[in-house]
Amino acid sequence: MNTVQQVNILSLEFKANPFPLLARLRAEQPVCRITLPDKTPVWLVTRYEDVKTLLTDERFAKSRYNALTPAQLRKQPWVPQMFRPLERNMLDLDPPDHTRLRKLVHKAFTPRLIEQMRERVQKLANDLLDAASQKGAMDLIRDYALPLPMTIITEILGVPIKDRDKFHIWSKVIVSVNQFNANWRMIIAIWKFNRYLRGFFKVRRDDLQEDLVSALIQAEDAGDRLSEDELLAMVFLLLVAGHETTVNLIASGTLELLQHPDQMEKLRRKPLLIRSAVEELLRYTAPVFMSTERYAREDVTIQGVTIPRGEMTLGVIGSANRDETVFDNPDTLDIEREPNKHLAFGYGIHYCLGASLARLETEIAIITLLGRMSDLRLKGSPESLRWRPSLFLRGLDTLPVEF
Ligand code: HEM
Repeated sequence: MNTVQQVNILSLEFKANPFPLLARLRAEQPVCRITLPDKTPVWLVTRYEDVKTLLTDERFAKSRYNALTPAQLRKQPWVPQMFRPLERNMLDLDPPDHTRLRKLVHKAFTPRLIEQMRERVQKLANDLLDAASQKGAMDLIRDYALPLPMTIITEILGVPIKDRDKFHIWSKVIVSVNQFNANWRMIIAIWKFNRYLRGFFKVRRDDLQEDLVSALIQAEDAGDRLSEDELLAMVFLLLVAGHETTVNLIASGTLELLQHPDQMEKLRRKPLLIRSAVEELLRYTAPVFMSTERYAREDVTIQGVTIPRGEMTLGVIGSANRDETVFDNPDTLDIEREPNKHLAFGYGIHYCLGASLARLETEIAIITLLGRMSDLRLKGSPESLRWRPSLFLRGLDTLPVEF
């Protein structure tokens, strides 16, 4: 087997089955430095407790401006000026900026408010399956797993549903980026996305509605307001994070159930197990496979290995979720697993803002699918499935099924 430094963690081979290599890393090199194909050096942290430390320890910053020395900052890859406003999104910021921005939006995503969307999500799931069921086969991603979260997040924000496909085309390019240096496809996608959103804000300012963008435009929290750039960064983050993640959970979750027919049958017989089943699918598939980047503010030693100040570090959530010191039989899919303290939604102050929404959408999507399509099966072999090239996310490109 290759040494880890030789393995390309962006390769589709690694995406298809990263787990044996990650088990080796946890055992032999739990904190390890690799180099991405674009030569960016990255530290990978793979054990459960260490990933939790990385996500909570104040010696790591989210924003590189809070960690890198001036000399290191000068050597950072070139970032086009128009990307700068997007750096004002909460996931890339530390307190107090992060605290302020999260406070302005968290009320829209509380479990109680999200629960009120149950009927809407259920109707959408039924409508999508009504349309697909005429055909006898579908791409589960294009026809179901993608339009469901995409429609819901655009409805919450109030951006026009007719433009849904455009957002997805742009965001697909942006999350597929497998390097930290800007490339032209990404620059064009971000430019179009920015231009679209700024135009939309103009329309909304003159015609406020009962939606989240209108609420953010008016947001006043202790006299606080979002600047135009912060509004742009917020809506951009919510649109992208609100669908590029859940699509992976619905699709990879369905794939795992198809590949574990005993678990799928158990869930069909006892639909009330859907709650613990979704937690287990979150643990097992880890749709956000790596945390987003952290930067050491000082030299930090973990497991006897020192990560020097300013170096980029990623917590491998997909590995933490299979840590044998925390989960019994971690490579077994058990939809009744209890306890199940997976890190699929992260940990600490950046814990996923949309966790309740993602859970609701996935519970409804999977249980409705299994309930309505009793002979659902994969079309083609599992080996022919293609995984999306993304550093942070793990998800399929397409998932052809028959019924
Ligand atoms: C299965 C679906 C999802 C998964 C697995 C997931 C996972 C995650 C993870 C791991 C983080 C933390 C990243 C880090 O610390 O580096 C995160 C943050 C975040 N997620 Fe999600 N997410 C999902 C769905 C959603 C949805 C539907 C939304 C829409 C509202 C959303 C919005 C966010 C936001 C805004 C943050 C940043 C929070 C902060 O910085 O305080 N996510 N998510």
